[in-house]
Amino acid sequence: MKTFISILALSLASLSSTALGADGPPPWAYPVNPPELKPRAEDGIARRVPASSATYSVTQLRDRFISPVWHPGDHPPLPTIVAEGRKPNVFACGFCHRAEGTGGPENASLGGLPAAYIVQQMADYKSGARKTSVQKRNIDLMIALSKDITDAEVQAAAAYFSALKPKSNIRVVETATVPKTTVAGWFLAASNTGEKEPIGQRIIEVPEDVEQFENRDPRSQFIAYVPIGSVARGEVLVSTGGAGKTLQCAICHGQDLKGLGELPSIAGRSPSYVVRQLYDIQNGARAGKGAQLMKAAVVNLTVEDMASIAAYLASRAP
Ligand code: HEC
Ligand code: HEC
Repeated sequence: MKTFISILALSLASLSSTALGADGPPPWAYPVNPPELKPRAEDGIARRVPASSATYSVTQLRDRFISPVWHPGDHPPLPTIVAEGRKPNVFACGFCHRAEGTGGPENASLGGLPAAYIVQQMADYKSGARKTSVQKRNIDLMIALSKDITDAEVQAAAAYFSALKPKSNIRVVETATVPKTTVAGWFLAASNTGEKEPIGQRIIEVPEDVEQFENRDPRSQFIAYVPIGSVARGEVLVSTGGAGKTLQCAICHGQDLKGLGELPSIAGRSPSYVVRQLYDIQNGARAGKGAQLMKAAVVNLTVEDMASIAAYLASRAP
C-alpha cells in the first residue's frame, strides 16, 4: 500500500510537471533567503556611496519608511509616498525600488514605465490577479501594501516613476563559468572566495558592488552572466518569433522594445525579473487582463528559451 501511494505521488508529480511544460520555477530567478540569513546589524558607522556627500546609518537604510536620496540631482523631488510611504502598512516605494526607480534583480525597475501600466499593475496586485509562482518571497510585501494604498497615492507614485528616464545599469557577459553565489537579501551575491562553477542554463545576475547596492544607491551597476550563445538565440526568438514558438515582441512592445502606449518597456531590464514575469504569466500566477495578451507569446517557451530572451533583452539599451 505504502509503495502504491508513493508510486502514485511520483506519477502525479511528473504529470503536473509535464502539464506545466517546465521543470518548476528556476531557483536562480526566484532566490529565497536561507533561514540563517541575518540583516546587517547597526554598528554605528555612517554609510556612504561614491560621489555623494550624504550619509545614512544602517538603521535608516533598513527602515522601510525611508527611501535614501543619495544623488538628489539625478531625479526630481520624491512625492511623499515614494519617499516615506504611509505607516503602518504602505512602505516607501523608493525603499525597495530606489529613489530613481532603478530597482534591482530582487524587484523591478519602474523608471519610464507608462503611468497607466503602473496603475493597472497596482490594481492587479490588489485584486490578486498578479501573484507569484514561488511563495514566501519579498513580493509578499509588495502585494500587502497594494491592499492599503489609496488611489491618490498610486497616481502620485505612477506620475513620478513614469516621468523618469530608465537607466542602463546591466552588463551582459556570456560565459561558461560563473562565480559561486549565495542568496543575500532576495538577490544573488558573488561569494568572495573566488570559487567558480559551471553556469549551466542559468542566468546569474549580481551587483558589481554588493555594499553599494545594499546601501540602495540607484547608481549601482549589475553583471548578468548568461550562457554562451544565449543572446543570439534570444534575438532570434524576440525578432522572428522562432518559427511559431512565440510572437514577435515588437508588435506589441514597440520597434525598439521600449514600450508602446500603455505597454511596458522590456529592453535593458533585469533578466531575473524578466524570467520571473515570463514564467509567472505562463503558469498563471500573473493573470491580469494585460497578461492574457501575453499568453500566446509564452505558452510554448521552455525555461531555457525564457533565459535566452531575457539575456537578449538585458543587452539592449533601456
Ligand atoms: C518591500 C519592497 C517593495 C516596496 C516597498 C514596493 N515594492 Fe513594488 N515591487 C516589489 C517587488 C519584489 C516587485 C517585483 C515582483 C516580481 O518579481 O514579480 C515589485 C513590482 C512592482 C511593480 C511591477 C513592475 C512591472 O514592471 O510590472 C510595480 C508597478 C510596483 N512594484 C510599484 C510599487 C509602488 C508604486 C510602490 C510604493 C507604493 C512599491 N512598488 C513599493 C517590491 C516592493
Ligand atoms: C500581443 C501583444 C504582445 C506580444 C506579441 C508580446 N507581449 Fe509582452 N506584454 C504584453 C502586455 C499587454 C503586457 C502587460 C501585461 C500585464 O498587464 O500584466 C506584457 C508584458 C510583458 C512583460 C512584463 C513586463 C513588466 O514590466 O513586468 C514581459 C517581460 C514581456 N511582456 C515580454 C515579452 C516578450 C519577450 C515578447 C516576445 C517574445 C512579448 N512580450 C510579446 C503584450 C504582448
